[in-house]
Amino acid sequence: MKRLIVLVCVLCGLTTVQGRDRQCFDKNWRFNLGDSIIMANVDYDDSRWRRLDVPHDWAIEGDFHASNPSGATGGSLPGGIGWYRKHFSLDKIEKVFIEFDGVYMNSIVYVNGQKVGQRPYGYSSFEYDITPYVHEGENVVAVRVNNSDQPNSRWYSGCGIYRHVWLTQTAPVHVSHWGVSASSSMVKGKGRLQIDVTLEGQGAVENTLIDPQGKVVGRSKGLKSVITVAKPMLWSCEQPYIYKVRTQVKVGGKVVDTYETTTGFRDFRFDAKTGFWLNGKNFKLNGVCEHHDFGCLGAALNEDALHRKLSKLKAMGVNSIRSSHNPPAPELLNMCDTMGLIVMDESFDMWRRKKTQNDYARFFDEWHERDLTDLVVRDRNHPCILMWSIGNEVLEQWSSSDGDELTLEQANLLLNASRDASTLAKDGEMSPNSLLALHLADIVKRNDPSGRPILSGCNEPSPNNHLFKSGAIDVIGFNYHHQLVKDVPKNFPGKPFIFSESVSALQTRGYYKMPSDSITWAPQEWWLPYTDPSFMCSAYDNFHASWSSTHEETWDVVKHNDFVGGQYIWTGWDYIGEPTPYGFPARSSYFGIIDLAGFPKDTYYMYQSEWTPQTVLHLFPHWNWLPGQTIDLWCYYNNADEVELFINGKSQGVRRKTGENPEGRYNMRNLTTSLNTEYHVGWRVTYEPGEVSVVSRKDGHIVCEQTIRTAGAPAAIRLTKDYVGKETTFINVEVVDKDGNLCPLAEDQMYFSVSGDAEIIGTDNGCQTSMENFKAPQRKAFFGKCMVAVKGKGTLKAQSPMLQSAVIGL
Ligand code: GAL
Repeated sequence: MKRLIVLVCVLCGLTTVQGRDRQCFDKNWRFNLGDSIIMANVDYDDSRWRRLDVPHDWAIEGDFHASNPSGATGGSLPGGIGWYRKHFSLDKIEKVFIEFDGVYMNSIVYVNGQKVGQRPYGYSSFEYDITPYVHEGENVVAVRVNNSDQPNSRWYSGCGIYRHVWLTQTAPVHVSHWGVSASSSMVKGKGRLQIDVTLEGQGAVENTLIDPQGKVVGRSKGLKSVITVAKPMLWSCEQPYIYKVRTQVKVGGKVVDTYETTTGFRDFRFDAKTGFWLNGKNFKLNGVCEHHDFGCLGAALNEDALHRKLSKLKAMGVNSIRSSHNPPAPELLNMCDTMGLIVMDESFDMWRRKKTQNDYARFFDEWHERDLTDLVVRDRNHPCILMWSIGNEVLEQWSSSDGDELTLEQANLLLNASRDASTLAKDGEMSPNSLLALHLADIVKRNDPSGRPILSGCNEPSPNNHLFKSGAIDVIGFNYHHQLVKDVPKNFPGKPFIFSESVSALQTRGYYKMPSDSITWAPQEWWLPYTDPSFMCSAYDNFHASWSSTHEETWDVVKHNDFVGGQYIWTGWDYIGEPTPYGFPARSSYFGIIDLAGFPKDTYYMYQSEWTPQTVLHLFPHWNWLPGQTIDLWCYYNNADEVELFINGKSQGVRRKTGENPEGRYNMRNLTTSLNTEYHVGWRVTYEPGEVSVVSRKDGHIVCEQTIRTAGAPAAIRLTKDYVGKETTFINVEVVDKDGNLCPLAEDQMYFSVSGDAEIIGTDNGCQTSMENFKAPQRKAFFGKCMVAVKGKGTLKAQSPMLQSAVIGL
């Protein structure tokens, strides 16, 4: 073990501190899609296996097919069983641990041919002590990943070692895995940090608290201690100040382990009357739900893709993320800590009762305690996390024959061995389902001394919901049901409330269904099929699922009710799978405010105009129609009193957003909306080629202007950098006419190539039905655009038979 070296290299997360050596273990794995138990053996010949680095997702490399057992809901990509092997050498051995941030799913780890352990849940992080299995010199780790029992998810899961792997070496006496709990609270303006350390072996513990500027601001000793900070710099969305606890373990006066923990101070609460408060400031949680995939990059964790995702959301005004519906990658939490994004950390999409044939319900009884504990213990120190969710729309909200097959006695046994079962058994009101909710809440509370509130995304809004009845839920969270929100204070007296999930509008970027003031909801009921040969959904805010609302409808309820703490929109980005309202060949979602390739849909600017101080003026749709056609133009704006529209220089009138509309606020399944609302203005005009422009004015002065011109024939390709990450660059590809106008209907086939030390790692265009392989170096433009993700440095060239090609340096 390398001792006495102090070095922190953030990129690959390599961290060597005094007494502890934590190495990123991602490089040089070998991979084989196929299964045989002999692949675990030390002397198995893996020399012909494919070489790769993890994070890796083999499903994203596959082709879409209707017969793939994941189904359209799972993205119609393949599953299967795969093996990974890695050879590594060790020089001196004291304690050696291997840690996986996430393997989807059913992983079994072998070291030198011996089984070390297994984990069914594909979203849990886990560590094995492999000291008894390794020796000095050459070793081999083999990991079997089994995602063959499908369907097991309601969205695309990915397959493989899709998050980072770490190898840690310590001395025999060391801080246990996730063994420091730094629980912060604010008491009368002072920061109180309770530090609990769990050790392997016996040693003396010393903690140092370091402030965001690197200054030591407190010290403590012992396994349980408290540090008080007189006036801490508070973590907020605007200034996310991070503190660090450095824990040192000494034996015989010598440092044998150093362990660093991120923490922060903030004062937050949910109020039944006034909603959410952070550090004395009352504001809405403008949240989005996110699944974990990165579009064409699949589930394989890519920090650049993650940062791009969060940055675009933050620029829209998002201040919170719900890790729907499972433990997120640790990197998401690290980024939310530093970017000032509040997190609702969620555990499960199901408990005992399954939602898909082979989902986690089959492991729940045996594994839930372990998985939930691991989630909380792993994540409890992140200042960004302000809530735990113990489940999403679990079927235990309702009793059913399955749920109630358990006697109360059995339920008590199952639910909480340590609880005083006799007291619960006497309470005739407490159903097994409610007990289960209490049991899960109890696991969270036991492991998070800071006592963050617990909620669960509930789509049964009645107070008789077994979860609400249990008393385990601190913040009432509705999924949908905006029409019933006015009754919340009456039905849940004294309880704070948020929308744990909302909206589920359906949109295809670039596609507009007119008249725009007529609303489509589809499917009419969730079990009914919906067909439309376009396989698209309108990008005006006039299309949503039958259980949900337009974006404006739910935001209106949130904005105008002080007691509503906020909402988590389904979803920020499109994701692979769940292509409601369609089936195959649709294979990715329509729910996102940003499409799968990363292009914002128009509604992005509605939120930006409402949620940020940034000046917004966004006119849509495009201006390429048939002469004489009746077209609806919508415009989102802010920081102005009015907007005037011009077609070829001729005014089409001035519009102002309307005032509030309390009468229509709680309607459900509206069939119409208006051209002018509190959130947008609109004009119904007759199309003529040329240009259309808008001018926004405040007190008679021009604030902003925007012009869209009718594009001529596609002539060239335009490449621009959308996001430049540490390793990956995302490049937008547009089809333009000879004057550089975007051709909004272009579908030209693009071919990409790179030179230098660069590699194309994915292509996409946001089209929910595209069957092009995500890894292929080609992609059709979709409504004039597509995107390429390139790793490394060099140049990217884009070509298309009828267009002037383009090159961009990376
Ligand atoms: C919710 C569910 C989400 C997603 C969404 C689609 O009921 O929690 O996971 O399925 O519906 O509208």
